[in-house]
Amino acid sequence: MPTAVRALQGDITQLPVQAIVNAANATLLGGGGVDGAIHRAAGPQLLEACRQLGGCTTGEAKLTLGYRLPAEYVIHTVGPVWHGGDRGEPALLAACYRHSIEIAVAQGIRSLAFPSISTGVYGYPLALAAQIAVSTVRAVLKEFSGFDEVIFCCFSASDLQVYQRLLTAPPGAQPAPV
Ligand code: APR
Repeated sequence: MPTAVRALQGDITQLPVQAIVNAANATLLGGGGVDGAIHRAAGPQLLEACRQLGGCTTGEAKLTLGYRLPAEYVIHTVGPVWHGGDRGEPALLAACYRHSIEIAVAQGIRSLAFPSISTGVYGYPLALAAQIAVSTVRAVLKEFSGFDEVIFCCFSASDLQVYQRLLTAPPGAQPAPV
C-alpha cells in the first residue's frame, strides 16, 4: 500500500497525526514560528525533555514525546539558514526530511506531518524548499514501507498552492532529490 503524501493548510500543532516535525534551532530550547507554537501547545514538559537532548546539529533530528499536543511525538530537526544556496543548504534541508522519516520509522510511527522547514525565519525560498521537501520525502518513502500518511502542513494558502502543484506534477517533472 503506497504511503499517502498530501498537503493541507493549517496549524501543525492541531493535527491528529502520530508525530509532527518541529523546525527548531540548534539549542532545541524553543523559539518563534512553528517552534514557538509547538512548545506553547505541548506545554513545559516539552522544554524539559528538550533540555536533556543536548541540542541538535543542522540536518539532524531528535525525538521527544508530544505531551499536551494531539500528536504522540515531536521530531525536532534543524534546517539550514538560507545564504543563497551555495553553502550546502539543499543537502542539509534534504537531510532534515530524510532523518525525520528515519526516526519515525525506527519508532514505528505511521503518520507524520512536516512544516515548511527553513522557509520562515531561516529565509529559505519556499518554492525551492518545497521542491526539496517533496522530492526527498518521495525518495525516502520508497526505501521504507509501513507509513500510512505523510502530510505537508502549510501555514498559508499560497504555500499550500506551491506544494499542491508539486504533488500533482507528473513524475519526472521535478529535479531528482539532492
Ligand atoms: N503550523 C504550521 N506551520 C507553521 C506554524 C504552525 N503553527 N507556524 C509557523 N509555521 C510555518 C511558517 O509559516 C513557515 O512556513 O513554518 C514554516 C517555518 O518557519 P519558522 O517557524 O520560522 O522556521 P524556520 O524558518 O525553520 O526557522 C527556524 O525559527 O522559530 C525559530 O527556533 C526557531 O530558530 C529557529 C528558526
